[in-house]
Amino acid sequence: MNQLFTSVRVGRYELSNRLVMAPMTRSRAGNGDGVIADAVPDYYEQRSGAGLIISEGVYPSASGKGYVSTPGIETDAQIAAWKKVTDAVHAEGSRIFMQVMHCGRISHPSIQPGNALPVAPSAIKPAGQTWTATGQQEFVTPHALTVAEIQDVIADYRSATRRALEAGFDGVELHAASGYLPEQFLASESNHRTDEYGGTIRNRIRFVLEVLAAMVDEAGGDRVGIKISPEMNFNDIVDEKPQALYWELVEELNQFSLAYLHLTRQGTPEMDYHALLRPRFKGPYLMGAGLTKETAEAALQAGKADAAVFGELFLANPDLPERFRLGAALNTPDRTTYYGGDEKGYTDYPTLKVTEAA
Ligand SMILES: Cc1cc2nc3c(=O)[nH]c(=O)nc-3n(C[C@H](O)[C@H](O)[C@H](O)COP(=O)(O)O)c2cc1C
Repeated sequence: MNQLFTSVRVGRYELSNRLVMAPMTRSRAGNGDGVIADAVPDYYEQRSGAGLIISEGVYPSASGKGYVSTPGIETDAQIAAWKKVTDAVHAEGSRIFMQVMHCGRISHPSIQPGNALPVAPSAIKPAGQTWTATGQQEFVTPHALTVAEIQDVIADYRSATRRALEAGFDGVELHAASGYLPEQFLASESNHRTDEYGGTIRNRIRFVLEVLAAMVDEAGGDRVGIKISPEMNFNDIVDEKPQALYWELVEELNQFSLAYLHLTRQGTPEMDYHALLRPRFKGPYLMGAGLTKETAEAALQAGKADAAVFGELFLANPDLPERFRLGAALNTPDRTTYYGGDEKGYTDYPTLKVTEAA
């Protein structure tokens, strides 16, 4: 039996299929105002064959911004623009969660309000460079948040959740993957704090749990998901005992009765984190990274996941579910148009119908 096209309950919602569009930053917002461009509603509408869409990462407050031309959910203008996206997706019968993404130290003073230092749990500079308005630049040593400032950041996640709902989103996803602020707190190498937010695993997971508590308080657990990426080591994130860390984190997630746990993995760490953590989480499990129609179907049939998340394939194939259903050929993603630019490589990937007509 084909599982991908069966419905599934995720939090408050009955999704029409088990194909989820992955959160993907596309950097098509005004760099000054963080308002999404006019083409963005079309882009999401084209992909609303997905049972669930997870939006690109959206900053909760300007200090959470990490990349040029990424969008926010802070101002009335930002909310009004996002409303066009949620209306378009809902008109097509799909669901959309907003991914709330605070980049922490994976930012740069030139991207921060008042050219301030980016914030992080500890003043530890990540290795590497980032793309800014003036080209590639070294990361900087971030400002270590005080306990009072941590409370302000948590309040920003709360407001972002409220505003996302106001903009018509069906829920929110906490981006706790890929080396951004929440994972900077989780990981031992980026968190050298000696207070209640650092040191032991229990202390390092505290930030994520407090953020989730605030988001759940606004939206209800059944409208909040979380994305994690154990041992992906992206953005210079390293933890000394990742299996123990995520084992404890996932157990603690259960208290919130979340809409879902979304786990993505790249590379080939020796541990199969899907196998380790899926049974530990009491709720819908979204598996992501590197899936094809066949591997996704196999994972669903084996009960290893409840839904399958597709990134690059959805980016390049607006009608991905239809193509899967028909066993049709897939468009190839064009990496040169991933971040920034106009409609090229954004809303102009052809659907099967367009290709056939041509
Ligand atoms: C262009 C692009 C932008 C991405 N931006 C984000 C993002 O904003 N937030 C996030 O959690 N993951 C982001 N990702 C990672 C995807 O969500 C996904 O985990 C990854 O692409 C692996 O899945 P795939 O092999 O199906 O593409 C991005 C991936 C791509 C290709």
